[in-house]
Amino acid sequence: MLFSFVTLFPNLIKGYFSESILKRAIEDDKISIDFYNPRDFTTDKHNRVDAPMIGGGAGMLMTVQPLFDTLDKLKVDSPEAHVIFLSPVAKTFTQNDAKRLAKKEHIVFVSGRYEGIDERVIEAHADELFSIGDYVLTGGELASMVLCDSISRNIDEVLGNSDSLSVESFENTLLEAPSFAKPKCYDGNEVVSEFLKGNHSRITDLKRGLALYKTKYFRPDLYKKGTKDEK
Ligand code: ADE
Repeated sequence: MLFSFVTLFPNLIKGYFSESILKRAIEDDKISIDFYNPRDFTTDKHNRVDAPMIGGGAGMLMTVQPLFDTLDKLKVDSPEAHVIFLSPVAKTFTQNDAKRLAKKEHIVFVSGRYEGIDERVIEAHADELFSIGDYVLTGGELASMVLCDSISRNIDEVLGNSDSLSVESFENTLLEAPSFAKPKCYDGNEVVSEFLKGNHSRITDLKRGLALYKTKYFRPDLYKKGTKDEK
């Protein structure tokens, strides 16, 4: 999978791939990344990539020409590329989206800055738009990294232990049950005693019960969805 980042600030993103799982995924050729800076495509003599909003409104927008030329070049080089714009004004990204998008060959993330992106760019070039939540960030870069991370871990062999994908939160609508690691007792705090007895079917039942409690407490919306089919 190739991830291309269209951004005015590539250095904000690069560091994330210099450590840990995504660094290894690049070294093992499971994913690759590249960057396109719209500033490199501007024809403005002062290198501008922003312009005031037409019809009033505070602040500047990322303007049409540099983004059109960047995305046109990308599409010529890679006609099958799937172009995703990051925007707070979009549907929220979910685990199902991550799994679906992990099957693509090439994903392009377009990050807005300033007050956003001229709508004509979005209309002409977006295959999909995603928000990562109901709050506004200073730009789309963090959101693009969130999507890239979450898609990458659903690509074959990116995670060391693919078993961990099937039991984790959101895979079956419930949140993941609480987990414990050694030592059995830390500063007087013991792990749930049933977990120590080695009865695996009992532990599975217990974990399901704990997952239900946790989901009901933290995410009543998911709990409702997850238990609807069982009634
Ligand atoms: N850009 C600014 N805020 C954002 C958000 N919440 N999600 C995606 N992109 C954004």
